[in-house]
Amino acid sequence: MSFLQLFRKKPLTKIVQQGGDGEHSGLNKVLTVKDLTFFGIAAIIGGGTFSAIGNACFTGGPGVILLYIMCAVACGFTAMCYAEFASRVPVSGSAYTYAYVSFGELFAWIIGWALLMEYSIGNIYIAFSWSGYFTNLLETFGIHLPEWLTINYKSAHAAFMDNKVGEGLTAWQNAPELAGLKIIFDLPAVAINVLITYLIYRGTKESKNLSNAMVYVKLAIILLVIIVGAFYIDIDNWTPFMPNGFGGVMAGVSAVFFAYIGFDAVSTLAEESKNPQRDLPRGMIYSLAICTLVYIVLALVLTGMVKYDLLGVSDPLAEIFALKGVKWMLFIVSIAAVVAMTSVMLVFQMGQPRIWMTMSRDGLMPKKFSEIHPKHKTPGFATIVTGIVVGLPIFFTDENFVLDFTSIGTLFAFVLVCGGVLMLSPQSEEELKDRATRGKFRIPYINSKWIFPALVLLAIVLVNYYVPEFFAETFNLSEATFATNLPMLAFFVLTLIMVVLAFVKNLSLIPLLGLISCCYLLTGMAVSNWKWFGIWLIIGLVIYFAYGFRKSKLNVAK
Ligand code: ALA
Repeated sequence: MSFLQLFRKKPLTKIVQQGGDGEHSGLNKVLTVKDLTFFGIAAIIGGGTFSAIGNACFTGGPGVILLYIMCAVACGFTAMCYAEFASRVPVSGSAYTYAYVSFGELFAWIIGWALLMEYSIGNIYIAFSWSGYFTNLLETFGIHLPEWLTINYKSAHAAFMDNKVGEGLTAWQNAPELAGLKIIFDLPAVAINVLITYLIYRGTKESKNLSNAMVYVKLAIILLVIIVGAFYIDIDNWTPFMPNGFGGVMAGVSAVFFAYIGFDAVSTLAEESKNPQRDLPRGMIYSLAICTLVYIVLALVLTGMVKYDLLGVSDPLAEIFALKGVKWMLFIVSIAAVVAMTSVMLVFQMGQPRIWMTMSRDGLMPKKFSEIHPKHKTPGFATIVTGIVVGLPIFFTDENFVLDFTSIGTLFAFVLVCGGVLMLSPQSEEELKDRATRGKFRIPYINSKWIFPALVLLAIVLVNYYVPEFFAETFNLSEATFATNLPMLAFFVLTLIMVVLAFVKNLSLIPLLGLISCCYLLTGMAVSNWKWFGIWLIIGLVIYFAYGFRKSKLNVAK
């Protein structure tokens, strides 16, 4: 085994043979900027907007708006990096394919492995949230499902251990038993996963039409929530702005970042878009901009309608109208949430088998993953495995765990994408001219040599002024605080290294800011998340060395 083999790159010609350049794929090239923007919105607005926003407001108070802005900035820079890849590397696919062409196999595998968290584990959270609103909806029709069929085992067990009165405890007390084991699981979450898997297995055409219709419905209803909600705003609710300090705001980082995930899924549609190099970047950036606006206004309305401490529920958009006694809105919001989350699940659950399909064609995953169903023309096996990967954990995990796990994994993939753009080699004058005349997107080059160090210095001065205790607390290396402070300390070291590199290598400012802002968001993750994430990465690497490395189609020894 040679070390260099880990960085072998997939040649573009191979991708063209596989149809990945969009010209040879045989798929209809029909999607326009509008379609791509809609697809982006379909993937973005879902569980994060309807569920996770509640806990983020609860911990952060109205100040959570700052976190929405910070995540939008980090995602905006990252979207530009994705766009640079989409425009420069003339192939379809997610960050996995881009990395394979640009940086070689090991990075590609790591990104593919991290994307599994975004696409599959993320869907577990959405399935749980979907279930919460679906149960609400059933209640409005007078149908009551027993608690032991609407909550996951872990949450019910925790409620029992803490003796916390509520749904969890009721579920634990009333659950039937089989061989001494309590039967508690989230039936609607399981059911929606089976339904979505079936729909995707049967054919993507129907699924895509459905997803377009859903975007109209969810945008219209969110607008209605904002307009109706605006009448109930009491500006006194906006003070105190950060009741739990900046730490409270940052505690919502997984939830808020989760709400933005999805814009990158647009990049998987290159093969079907009319002019991918021009339109994919636009689709990504437009959908992100629209959603950012929606989120900031929505967070303002939510925290303005009721006191932040009433928002720590899994169905906050329904809860605010329940608290205000607006029954008809409760019903409409529940329908919208069910619709919105179904569309997000569709996009993600469609994306996962396609990433696996590409990885399997490259030899990094078993051949079965790229088998196409003879009748339905979908990657049948990969679709079913995705359904199982999403479905099984529903029985033994809870929503907070999967939310954190998804966000940390996706942020990690984003860091690699931004870092990847920094490592791309500069293009010749001729290539740049060609890109300009054909309207292809290009990340504006701003030399970070002086700007980045100046920005870092400014940040240090501002933090020192507004939060004087920050540095003393972070550099407190006592045993009790060391583990908690470790991510922030690592961030300082990385920032220093990047200051030097920016100065010496004249790095491009936008991808650099993307990398740093995503890394900053990563510092908000709890130590336990890092542990789980580390284990996850190690498992991924073991699989790569045991299987992918040997079976890779680029394996020269074969
Ligand atoms: N952004 C997507 C959602 O919130 C993942 O559901």
